[in-house]
Amino acid sequence: MIPLKNDTLIRALLRQPTAYTPVWLMRQAGRYLPEYNQTRARAGNFLALCKSPALATEVTLQPLDRYRLDAAILFSDILTIPDAMGLGLYFADGEGPRFERPTRDAASIGKLVAPDPLGELKYVIDAVAEIRRALGGRVPLIGFAGSPYTLACYMVEGGASDDFRTIKTMLYREPALLHRILEVNAQAVAAYLNAQIGAGVQAVMLFDTWGGNLSHDAYREFSLAYLARVLGEVKREHDGVRVPRIVFTKGGGLWLEAIAGCGCDCVGVDWTVNLADARQRVGERVSLQGNLDPAVLFSTPQVIREQTGKVLASFGPGPGHVFNLGHGISQFTPPDHVSALVAAVHELSRAHHEGR
Ligand code: CP3
Repeated sequence: MIPLKNDTLIRALLRQPTAYTPVWLMRQAGRYLPEYNQTRARAGNFLALCKSPALATEVTLQPLDRYRLDAAILFSDILTIPDAMGLGLYFADGEGPRFERPTRDAASIGKLVAPDPLGELKYVIDAVAEIRRALGGRVPLIGFAGSPYTLACYMVEGGASDDFRTIKTMLYREPALLHRILEVNAQAVAAYLNAQIGAGVQAVMLFDTWGGNLSHDAYREFSLAYLARVLGEVKREHDGVRVPRIVFTKGGGLWLEAIAGCGCDCVGVDWTVNLADARQRVGERVSLQGNLDPAVLFSTPQVIREQTGKVLASFGPGPGHVFNLGHGISQFTPPDHVSALVAAVHELSRAHHEGR
């Protein structure tokens, strides 16, 4: 394997010294880039794009050709797992993801089986290998999966939801049913991440987009416990090299101490969190990733620079910060504003790492 030319991300995730703060963006390959929209049009639709390793490789590299980002993220989706379980994923125009066959009753839940990552999900694993070859060691490749709870939200609701009424009704009326879904999901996610690692991803991230909608106790029982279970099964090293793990619970700012203890190396935080405060709370246990409000990118290059400086200053000096947005980049972001952001992170962060 070719050694990494830029290992800043890996070092920062493991709280090792770096010359500057690395930066990548959640959803960095996406609809705000005209070249992405062109490739998606060639593929026909989003799912066809995900299922073509060649086209997934092309769009993974697009943001790296435009910006000096410190990581690539596999182009795919968290919902590939429930799709491979047979729930029938589709994207209705303007409505986000939907499932033809949501899983809500004991009969369908009893039949759920974790998919073989080298079977129905082989297209993802093939994409990982192809992206690694195309990257040629430029930057590390991040693999990912959804958290067992976040996947369950889509599987039970059948799509996005305002109030999560169906899954929360299940959680309080028939918790054993939800636990059964979460167990299958945890097995599926662990096997999927291990296959991604086997094919070459150099860090992994668990997206717990909806864990923040749970009560204090329910978060621990229905989301965090399964994140911990996944991480207990995921390989810590590949070919003798550490594979750092990031956990991001959107809306999880009140629970950072608990999240820091789930077996991850890095906790992702949304923009509601103050990084200085978060750093004090998690101590030496983990690094932090985040957390510029994605809406800052609608402003001006000057405001972007100021707001970036504030995020860097709030983390303060020393290693252990990976710069990112507090959630995915919006499709309405002007592409030039991302250049301003990346330049600001690289320039302004050097002062926080000097002499280290
Ligand atoms: O970050 C990257 O560049 C990698 C690719 C990536 C996508 N989805 C591509 C995508 C990643 C890491 C995801 C994760 C994902 N998918 C999450 C967790 C992160 C988060 O945003 O909270 C969730 C909840 C999903 C499920 C999903 N997929 C939703 C809700 C949507 C619709 C979103 C929207 O903006 O309409 C998708 C579709 C999707 N996944 C798109 C992309 C680029 C847009 C599809 C398109 O081209 O039309």
